[in-house]
Amino acid sequence: MITYIVSPKKRKSQIDKNIYGHFSEHLGRCIYEGIFVGESSSIPNHYGMRDDVVNALKKIKIPVLRWPGGCFADEYHWKDGIGKKEDRKKMINTHWGGVVEDNSFGTHEFMKLCEILGCEPYINGNVGSGTVQEMAEWVEYISFGGMSPMSNLRKENGQENPWKIKYWGIGNENWGCGGNMRVEYYSDLYRQFATYVRNFDGNKIFKIACGPSDANYNWTKVLMENAGNLTDGITLHYYTFTNGWNDKGFALVMNESDFYSTLQKTLVMDELVTKHSAIMDTYDPEKRVALIVDEWGTWFDVEPGTNPGFLYQQNTMRDALVAGINLNIFNKHSDRVRMANIAQMVNVLQSVILTEGEKMILTPTYHVFEMYSAHQDATLVESFIDSGTTGTKDIVVPDVTESASVDALGNITMTFCNLDIHNEKEIETTLLDFNSTDITGEVLTGVMDAHNTFAKPTTVEKSRLKTIKKTKTGFLVTLPPCSIVKVVAKA
Ligand code: AHR
Repeated sequence: MITYIVSPKKRKSQIDKNIYGHFSEHLGRCIYEGIFVGESSSIPNHYGMRDDVVNALKKIKIPVLRWPGGCFADEYHWKDGIGKKEDRKKMINTHWGGVVEDNSFGTHEFMKLCEILGCEPYINGNVGSGTVQEMAEWVEYISFGGMSPMSNLRKENGQENPWKIKYWGIGNENWGCGGNMRVEYYSDLYRQFATYVRNFDGNKIFKIACGPSDANYNWTKVLMENAGNLTDGITLHYYTFTNGWNDKGFALVMNESDFYSTLQKTLVMDELVTKHSAIMDTYDPEKRVALIVDEWGTWFDVEPGTNPGFLYQQNTMRDALVAGINLNIFNKHSDRVRMANIAQMVNVLQSVILTEGEKMILTPTYHVFEMYSAHQDATLVESFIDSGTTGTKDIVVPDVTESASVDALGNITMTFCNLDIHNEKEIETTLLDFNSTDITGEVLTGVMDAHNTFAKPTTVEKSRLKTIKKTKTGFLVTLPPCSIVKVVAKA
């Protein structure tokens, strides 16, 4: 029996809803086919965005969406993606599969997508191959309402009023695909570009600098030292591979060792966030600057027979656990982590949705996002779990991870991941100074490689949890092997 204690009165940081954010790049079938099919498509759509995908995304309340990349961002020239579609430049997407990018999805289409999803747009500007002027003009085009060349151009293109834009990234992975820069050089460039990212007409931009990948602590240190005072957030990218970049494994092919190795790699996120945050603390003890994990998730070898440049992979219960573990980690670090964007939203890497022609399926990861959405904007509360370990002879991981929050109505949401593929876990929970007569739960479970297909779309679905028993001080709950469980205790 595992002991779990939650102290709803011991309130910690607010869990920014943007931790449940997403990322969509011009990569493979994410934007084209996955989201945007064009108005003349036979797939039901509004403004060219497919209705099935939009409706599914609305259900998980996506708060923020990052676009247009990724590595694509530092090759993207926004003026190619505005104006009449037939006049838009066609280019080769050199980074991702060498396919033709016809620019039919550009700034107007992205802003429309965010409007219909009801989420905040997060645009990642081009530093690697762009200019300061190009970025400054993009901000002016989007957010300036008065008379100016860019504002006039926007109006000519059919958008009379400026849009509001809050989140603006200044470069992506500039230590790699975004220019192979050294941090000293990038942080100077950041200072220069950021100067011209202006606030127009009361629009206040939250400027995001390209931060480190993985354990590159020196990048965080130098960036904070050189540009910390001019930024609102710095990014962190960390992907989960089965055994490492050179041994990514396949989404659907795994043995127990691969399964636990993947989870062990995922758990490293906690150490990365802790250590990068500690460096940030030395420059920014007030925690003004956010750590934004704007690329995370599993990265396996592509599904056999698909374009290697499209990064298309299936999604199993193992991915669901990766999502649940990471989201619990972000919740626990919500004093510093104020946005995270899973890579990527549809048809690329750890997607919540997969499409094939007119068909769409929801992945196990989708269900985790739906279950965890109760944490959005709630307050993290103190919790303690007396968990053990599981794994193989060589790979040892905790058997249960969790996080708990209290919402505006005083309800407690607790999310648990049972990493053990063979054994259920019984948890005896004490809710300190909290008496609830209404305690319910949901569960997502299956064997480690359980997944949904276009032929069998509902193999993995969440269901009501029947194993909760109320006790004098809280409740008893049984987590099935390899599961994600949410319990809500109403105030
Ligand atoms: O998400 C796929 C790629 O991973 C992104 O384009 C890049 O930023 C990262 O390396």
